[in-house]
Amino acid sequence: MVDLEALEAEARASLAEAGDEASLDAWRVVWLGRRGRLTSVLRGVRDLPVEERPRVGAGANRLKVSLEEAVAAHRSQLLASAADTDAIDVTLPGRAPPLGSLHPITLTRRMLERTFRDMGFDVVEGPDVELEEYNFDRLRIPAGHPARDMWDTIWVADDGDSGPRQLLRTHTSPMQIRYLERRSPPIRVIVPGTCYRYEATDATHEWMLTQIEGLVIDRNLSMAHLKGTLEAFVRRMFGADIETRFRCDYFPFVEPGAELGVRWQGDWLEILGCGMVHPEIIEDAGLDPELYTGFAFGMGVERVAMLRYGVRDIRHFYRNDVRFLRQFEGRR
Ligand code: DAH
Repeated sequence: MVDLEALEAEARASLAEAGDEASLDAWRVVWLGRRGRLTSVLRGVRDLPVEERPRVGAGANRLKVSLEEAVAAHRSQLLASAADTDAIDVTLPGRAPPLGSLHPITLTRRMLERTFRDMGFDVVEGPDVELEEYNFDRLRIPAGHPARDMWDTIWVADDGDSGPRQLLRTHTSPMQIRYLERRSPPIRVIVPGTCYRYEATDATHEWMLTQIEGLVIDRNLSMAHLKGTLEAFVRRMFGADIETRFRCDYFPFVEPGAELGVRWQGDWLEILGCGMVHPEIIEDAGLDPELYTGFAFGMGVERVAMLRYGVRDIRHFYRNDVRFLRQFEGRR
């Protein structure tokens, strides 16, 4: 006598105990595998007495189907509960949080600072919100002077009528005056900082820019020192083969004034304005302009970064597109 009911009870009891995939597989081998217990019942049907065969054959086949269903249901139940528990595998290596990277303008600014430090310059900073007096008047740009049109200024609204007018500095040059108030020659200093201009942007102009101002004052300095210093600087930056050109330019606080251009992909790109510090500025600082002379320059950091990284449009720097910024990962 084949007791199918007892067989089924035993099979289901042991299936209920299977707690993972591996024991499910093992259970399958024992009960439904090629030499499994139910399979041998089915194989033995032909040896049974003729009147027993239909009952056992049909019953065992039905049992087979229902056990297949039971094992499938059990398997999906196991999977579902595994997904519920957030199992932590403590043997996995840790996930490094993304560290980000320095902004290309920061990278370039730091590199410029290093280069000037190596040449004996100090590095100082000045205020972004500046007095009209320092940004313009004391740089020989009085109200109503046409030179004020060189900078479309963003003024800081004043609460009342009283007090001096303030603005977002349009250049780093006001620090020339502030520094001269505190220090006496010999002076050799650079001033990195952000400047703001209310003007239309294009591929080489932004409304916000980073400048590095330079000021050198000592006895007996001439235009030769200006040229020598800036050319040495440019060669350190871009290599000995870089082509440079000085051209006359006008800035109210220098006399004479010039611009320095470098050759970039066949075109000339102006990277800085410069000149001999105007004798009136030296005199205003309480120094004798017959004894003391000097030179100044103001450099666009974005322009240098464009050359350095081959960026064709200055506006990429402030769009905050991570696809652009990620290219600077790992740079120092
Ligand atoms: N301040 C000028 C500007 O914004 C740049 C400049 C020109 C700075 C000549 C200087 C200088 O120190 O001598 O555009």
